[in-house]
Amino acid sequence: MADVKRICLLPGDGIGPEIAAEAVKLLEAIGELEGVTFELTEALLGGVAIDETGSPLPDETLAEARDADAVLLAAIGGPRWDTTDPARPRPEQGLLGIRKALGLYANLRPVKLFDALTDASSLKREALEGVDMLIVRELTGGLYFGESAREADVDGASADGSPGMLAYDTMVYTEAEIERIARVAFEAARKRRGKVHSVDKANVLESSRLWREVVHRLHAAEYGDVELLDQLVDNTAMQLVRMPAQFDVIVTENMFGDILSDEASMLTGSLGMLASASLGDGTALYEPSHGSAPDIAGQGIANPLAMLLSVELMLRYSFGMDAAADRLAAAIEVTLAEGWRTRDIADAWTLPQRTVGTSAMGDLVVERLRAPR
Ligand code: IPM
Ligand code: MG
Repeated sequence: MADVKRICLLPGDGIGPEIAAEAVKLLEAIGELEGVTFELTEALLGGVAIDETGSPLPDETLAEARDADAVLLAAIGGPRWDTTDPARPRPEQGLLGIRKALGLYANLRPVKLFDALTDASSLKREALEGVDMLIVRELTGGLYFGESAREADVDGASADGSPGMLAYDTMVYTEAEIERIARVAFEAARKRRGKVHSVDKANVLESSRLWREVVHRLHAAEYGDVELLDQLVDNTAMQLVRMPAQFDVIVTENMFGDILSDEASMLTGSLGMLASASLGDGTALYEPSHGSAPDIAGQGIANPLAMLLSVELMLRYSFGMDAAADRLAAAIEVTLAEGWRTRDIADAWTLPQRTVGTSAMGDLVVERLRAPR
């Protein structure tokens, strides 16, 4: 029987459909080369889902996702759906909802520098030597999922001292949530360079003090062979641009991880280069770390590489197709080494005729993947 992998594709909003099209093209080529059939089912998530169904995460989408072998998501959100009205649906609720519903508590964001892009980074070449880290972001707890609300008529809450509105979000973690994400980090470190930075704000936050305790307890009990270092999140933000090569695995709370991974992406030259894998109890989900870039949507200039690198992670983690993943990574490496760039990663040395759009970049990678070697 033919080898069939069922993928639930969520193109979403903004540049989402454009980069999703490149992933489809790529999967067709990989399928042919590897003798695998990728069966793609498209579903609605985010702004398009709100427009068509009123909900950012329709039941049908969740059912498709649960049913699939993997979920591939492009990007969601855009100014069209931006609102501060708590009663109106927002695209981001779709993304957070599907992460939670699928139990995707571990978000892995590899930050690896392609040699060819050293000059596209905003950091000096010397600072970038040896940069190769994995950010393990807790994805279904913390500030994103704690109790949050608005209260009206609160005494003294308005600027003139009269009753007004307040709002709160809470950072909550259980020992179980901390332990399972720490385990992911330690396991990953064992397969890498054996070092984990646990990033928190234990000098201020109670949830961070529990985080630290639990991480150390697990380390002492089971992972003594891995080097464990604590770092305060503000310091990490600084160290990421001061000496990024010191990091192997970073494990941290949901929102800290969100912020630090955007920062770390710039080491690679562009947010358009950072892929991610979200793993947990159910079907895994793969998505670029960048957003829907509404400012450049529809122009055919978005960088599809984070999306293609997300396909690479899917091949590795969900389908065990390591050889195919290696070939894909090599094809991207060659494309970049030949000087091909989308605008976000172009630098002073990029030839104008090698600055290409979304679809041409996808074609180049596919051609190099197919090239006999
Ligand atoms: C990310 C994104 C999302 C997040 C947004 C779109 C809700 O920034 O995946 O990093 O904050 O998790
Ligand atoms: Mg983010």
